[in-house]
Amino acid sequence: MVEFAAKTAPELELLIRKVTIDDLDLVNDLDARITGVDKREYWRDMIDRVATRRAGERFFLIAKPCNDTVKCPALGIIIGEIRGWEFGSDPCGWIFAASVDLDYREQGIGEQMFKAICEEFRAVGTETVRTMVRRDDQINMSFFRSEGMSAGPYTQLEINLNER
Ligand SMILES: CC(C)(COP(=O)(O)OP(=O)(O)OC[C@H]1O[C@@H](n2cnc3c(N)ncnc32)[C@H](O)[C@@H]1OP(=O)(O)O)[C@@H](O)C(=O)NCCC(=O)NCCS
Repeated sequence: MVEFAAKTAPELELLIRKVTIDDLDLVNDLDARITGVDKREYWRDMIDRVATRRAGERFFLIAKPCNDTVKCPALGIIIGEIRGWEFGSDPCGWIFAASVDLDYREQGIGEQMFKAICEEFRAVGTETVRTMVRRDDQINMSFFRSEGMSAGPYTQLEINLNER
């Protein structure tokens, strides 16, 4: 794991760029620090699917506190994809993961990553961005709402097959 002295956001010169397979250790280390679970093979597959194929529709961004010539950890990741026509929807950008290092939260990193992925969506002609948040997940709800997102036109439906 890469050692890095904690800095506060105003001192950070954040680099946000697309992930490559060379970032596998950084991404896995970040996620393991947050979740306590090593999911290296999951992240290898995710980077392969999202970051290396259909690059114009899938976006996997990493936030680092330094440029690429310096060894430093990942402080955040955000992942999204343009999906079209499912559920009768025109193509739109879906954000399906956003995560910031526990020691660096509430310093604006999530917001910078959100803006960066929205720019990626906008650059390929996408006007609408969607995500899914549990109603009782106050942090994620507060975060996405603070970025201007609000309830959309769809309602999620589900069923527990064991109770049917
Ligand atoms: C949601 C998350 C990405 C936000 O990242 P962050 O860098 O801490 O967010 P920011 O500092 O950019 O905050 C932007 C806004 O979000 C809201 N926000 C962020 N954290 C918040 C918190 N803990 N409580 C309430 N509001 C919060 C605030 O409105 C904030 O704006 P403000 O600073 O002007 O008040 C981060 O908390 C996180 O990684 N959470 C876990 C995400 C998760 O569940 N991942 C697993 C599935 S991928």
